[in-house]
Amino acid sequence: MSSVFSQLIGQWLDVQGFLIFLCVLLLVKHFRDVYSKNMPPGPFPLPFVGNLTNIGFSDPLGSFQRIAEKYGDVCTLYLGTKPCILMTGYETLKEAFVEQADIFTDRPYFPIVDKLGNGKGLIMSSGHMWRQQRRFALATLKYFGVGKKTLENAILQECRFLCDSLQAERGLPFDPQHLVTNAVSNIICGLVFGHRFEYDDHQFHLMQTYINNILQLPISNWGRLYNEFPTLMSLLPGKHQTAFASMSKLQPFLKEEIIKHQQDREPSSPRDYIDCYLEEIEKCKDSDAEFTEENLMFCVVDLFGAGTETTSNTLRWALAFMVKYPDVQEKVQSEIDQVIGQTRQPLMDDRTNLPYTYAVIHEIQRFANIVTFTPPRVANKDTTVGGQLIPKGVIVLPMLKPILLDKKEYSTPYDFNPAHFLDQNGKFLKKENFIPFSIGKRMCPGEQLARMELFLFFISLMQHFTFLPVEGQKLSLKGTTSVSSAPQPFQIRAVPR
Ligand code: HEM
Repeated sequence: MSSVFSQLIGQWLDVQGFLIFLCVLLLVKHFRDVYSKNMPPGPFPLPFVGNLTNIGFSDPLGSFQRIAEKYGDVCTLYLGTKPCILMTGYETLKEAFVEQADIFTDRPYFPIVDKLGNGKGLIMSSGHMWRQQRRFALATLKYFGVGKKTLENAILQECRFLCDSLQAERGLPFDPQHLVTNAVSNIICGLVFGHRFEYDDHQFHLMQTYINNILQLPISNWGRLYNEFPTLMSLLPGKHQTAFASMSKLQPFLKEEIIKHQQDREPSSPRDYIDCYLEEIEKCKDSDAEFTEENLMFCVVDLFGAGTETTSNTLRWALAFMVKYPDVQEKVQSEIDQVIGQTRQPLMDDRTNLPYTYAVIHEIQRFANIVTFTPPRVANKDTTVGGQLIPKGVIVLPMLKPILLDKKEYSTPYDFNPAHFLDQNGKFLKKENFIPFSIGKRMCPGEQLARMELFLFFISLMQHFTFLPVEGQKLSLKGTTSVSSAPQPFQIRAVPR
């Protein structure tokens, strides 16, 4: 009996010894892999889980920032077994995305992006196809008046609809989210579909919800899990399934719009982006550029999604800041009263005469810092940035937030202070490193449109209303973690002036 027992113990020790030996071997291999790659500095990754313990799930962006503060503007982070490079600092991003623009234009492959959009569209596509789609989108936005009077008039018309709806709230407490989102969304709808929607249109709201579900997924924890275990996750329930279902429900709606356009479009006088795209499908002989109906659908989702959430969240931040800083609101209103008055609608040309208001809009964008996660890039060949090696194919995660909070550039980076954008004489001060729209060949193609919307909507609101807190309610200035960070839902009062 005792000899059987000692035999079993002996075998167990053999197995245990073998397992320990295997672990040591794997650990040595892990150390060798991490150190032999000559990657930029960063926290040491654990085998299999990488820097999960450094990142956590509750505030990934905050942890990215802390890591960059400790290890520098170019540092390495392991997402599971995959190394990624965090990049921040204005000079660093300029060196990578402007001076080496052709190396850093592509987006990396992610299973979730593949599943949602087949790698098509504008935001996450790469290579020749992305170049052609982007060139076309920029040319079409310009054709329909971005930066010109025609679009200015369309935005001013929407400003009137928004103000009328706010007026109907009669100064009582309300959440501005839906009205502001609808107004902003209608501008991109006008450009893409050729028409606006009524604010209570059910289809309009469904479309916004679907697109929101789709665009939130890639940066959510569900998206992270799907990227790590695509096959397993596709079998499990969760928010990723809601986003996949949203994509399926959205497609018939967009298809209907495309069919309507096909039926009544006039090639010689295109009315909107869809008309122009359908013409391009017929004209284009370059099959690699992929001007197809399927790609049209993904481009529309991207334009609609990127063009709605970002600008409407910025405007909601603007309202929250005006309520929180009534002295700033008062100064803005007084400048507008002097320069434009309360009856004439604002024009883009008024910018030069409204230095304080223009500075406030810049400070709103800086302080709100809405783009929490800039879409990642990938280098198409080995290169160096800030003296650090960036190997071909490794994911690069750019961070704009630390640049907008740079204490060398802004005297009080953590305070809402419009003086950051004013010189000693009260004139507007342009800052080279103010880059909320990013830089380089992939920078936001909607920058001009967004700037027009922010200026005209903000001034119209300030002309007609004073925004006040709701008695007994504390307004939080904490942002949500999302593709574009919004203020936590809040109620305010819009009291007609
Ligand atoms: C305040 C408003 C906005 C902000 C702060 C913003 C910011 C950004 C940022 C930081 C990027 C990533 C650039 C990069 O990868 O380096 C981006 C991309 C993009 N934005 Fe915007 N954006 C805004 C409004 C808009 C609007 C109104 C549109 C509609 C035309 C738009 C369409 C896009 C598209 C299509 C991309 C992807 C570009 C590409 O990958 O080539 N954005 N935006």
